[in-house]
Amino acid sequence: MRSHYCGQLRETDIDSEVSLCGWVHRRRDHGGVIFLDVRDHTGIVQVVFDPDTVDAFALADQVRNEFVLNIKGRVRARDAAVVNSKMATGQIEMLGKELEILNASETPPFQLDEHSEAGEDVRLRYRYIDLRRPEMQERLRLRSKASHFVRRYLEELDFVDIETPILTKATPEGARDYLVPSRTHPGEFFALPQSPQLFKQLLMVSGFDKYYQIARCFRDEDLRADRQPEFTQIDIETTFMSEQEIMALSEDMIRKLFNELIDVELGDFPTMTYADAMQSYGSDRPDLRFDLPLVDVADLMREVEFKVFSGPANDEGSRVAAIRLEQGDRLTRKMIDGYTKFVGVYGARGLAYIKVNDIEAGIEGLQSPILKFLPDDVVLAILERVGAQNKDIIFFGADKTNVVNDSLGALRSKLAEDLDLYEKQWAPVWIVDFPMFEGDGKGNWSAVHHPFTHPTGSIDDMLANPGKTLSRAYDMVVNGHELGGGSIRVNKTELQQKIFEVLNLSASEIQMKFGFLLDALKYGAPPHGGLAFGLDRIVMLLTGTQAIRDVIAFPKTQTAACLLTSAPSEVDAGQLKDLSIAVNKATKQN
Ligand code: AMO
Ligand code: AMP
Repeated sequence: MRSHYCGQLRETDIDSEVSLCGWVHRRRDHGGVIFLDVRDHTGIVQVVFDPDTVDAFALADQVRNEFVLNIKGRVRARDAAVVNSKMATGQIEMLGKELEILNASETPPFQLDEHSEAGEDVRLRYRYIDLRRPEMQERLRLRSKASHFVRRYLEELDFVDIETPILTKATPEGARDYLVPSRTHPGEFFALPQSPQLFKQLLMVSGFDKYYQIARCFRDEDLRADRQPEFTQIDIETTFMSEQEIMALSEDMIRKLFNELIDVELGDFPTMTYADAMQSYGSDRPDLRFDLPLVDVADLMREVEFKVFSGPANDEGSRVAAIRLEQGDRLTRKMIDGYTKFVGVYGARGLAYIKVNDIEAGIEGLQSPILKFLPDDVVLAILERVGAQNKDIIFFGADKTNVVNDSLGALRSKLAEDLDLYEKQWAPVWIVDFPMFEGDGKGNWSAVHHPFTHPTGSIDDMLANPGKTLSRAYDMVVNGHELGGGSIRVNKTELQQKIFEVLNLSASEIQMKFGFLLDALKYGAPPHGGLAFGLDRIVMLLTGTQAIRDVIAFPKTQTAACLLTSAPSEVDAGQLKDLSIAVNKATKQN
């Protein structure tokens, strides 16, 4: 049907007879001549119909936006006056001779070039139309290239692509499970995998040596701009490799991926400990495209009467930290109020600040609502600690450590975004030496990564002090996004058993949830480790979009629903009966 793609016609095609297929992007009527902009995934070409090609002209008169056409005609040069240098095909046009309407279209719910005015709900409801837009086409095509690159890279290194079950048992990765009821085992449920973690470990026990899979994962968790309930991992596992070897291999893969697909040189991947990242940036996924560090000042605040500061300064679980922003005089009062609100979202109860107008003038040269609460020598010591200069503004956070880290960590990123503080375009980093467990302060521990991560140190040390135990885990962070993470795994039954005990699982729970893993570790489980990258997040970075939904063909909404198919949806009573399920209508109405 087709001899050429619309967007590929050039001056070299002038005088060729061609046959095009595509959609009507726009139709214009110009004094007896009809112009159709015809679009396919390669671009747009202008087709002209003269009244003397009577039949084609009559049909061209009937077509509307998004009609699907097959057009035969001749390529010709445009008159110099109407050459469009902004269009790839702008030097030429096609003189249409025959036209077949392959399908009509109702008026689309939004015009493709005016999509941004359509709400996202409409775009998701009519996703197949939204996906006709060139940006969306480009993003999904780049995604395809990225997964192809990864497959090729790993296959060349003898990694084996092995599929693991989707109907399976819960794999804890910190989220809730999506459950699937079993008909053949009434009252029992499969869980969709949060990751292929346990199966890839079992494959190492089986001697596959190097495994990979581009695997779909399912997590019922609070959604954010870079999270979907259903997403894709580049999942990797190896035997007999150290963490350094695994990090070097995956770093090389990511470096080459960025280089080949978007011609970016990511440069060195420095390594930073979790403790340093939290200390300096308040986050375990710091954006290092700019500096703006958090500086601890608790030791200077212990004696002050201002309880907002002295309280946290004297409490072990709290933190008092400052951020010094150069040229803080850019910030209006209104902006400062905005940032105070912003940190409130992260639980901060305020955002104290000091403006430095004239550092030579000492206290007189400062402006701040908290000066009256602080002795002069403390204020001067703070200025010295943060390296204050004229025009700076210094922000303070004082609260529980996690509140200060979350709020000032987020403020850092927000300031960088609002004021364009980026010093470079790309900033990759490995975060290492994560804690193995995190506590709730009441003696309950949960795993920071998953419970199959190998701790450093001995079993006795771990049992004696879970909160101080580090793990052999590593996360790759690029521009503030956690792209991937992994670890060396536990390969001995006793250690795995003890970790479950720290997590307060009873013997029967351990047996029920992870008995199969503990069994497998008894039969010659080799040392092994790996990691998983979020493919969606990688493609977000490759395409420069801020929303994960932009790189997934059919994504879910913020409330984990599919507007296109109206899923999830009710099922009929017969189906529920087969599954031995009764729906609690009261909960549903809530
Ligand atoms: P983790 O839970 O860190 O590790 O996941 C690995 C990577 O997957 C991506 N990711 C997500 N992407 C989109 N939406 C989500 N809801 C989402 N959750 C995670 C992130 C993350 O870095 N089994 C381990 C890996 C291992 O130890 O080998 C795991 O799943 O980019
Ligand atoms: P207040 O005495 O509550 O009016 O607070 C005085 C200043 O301290 C205001 O600028 C508040 O925004 C700020 N502030 C209050 N609580 C905190 C806190 N926990 N951390 C940082 N600044 C705070």
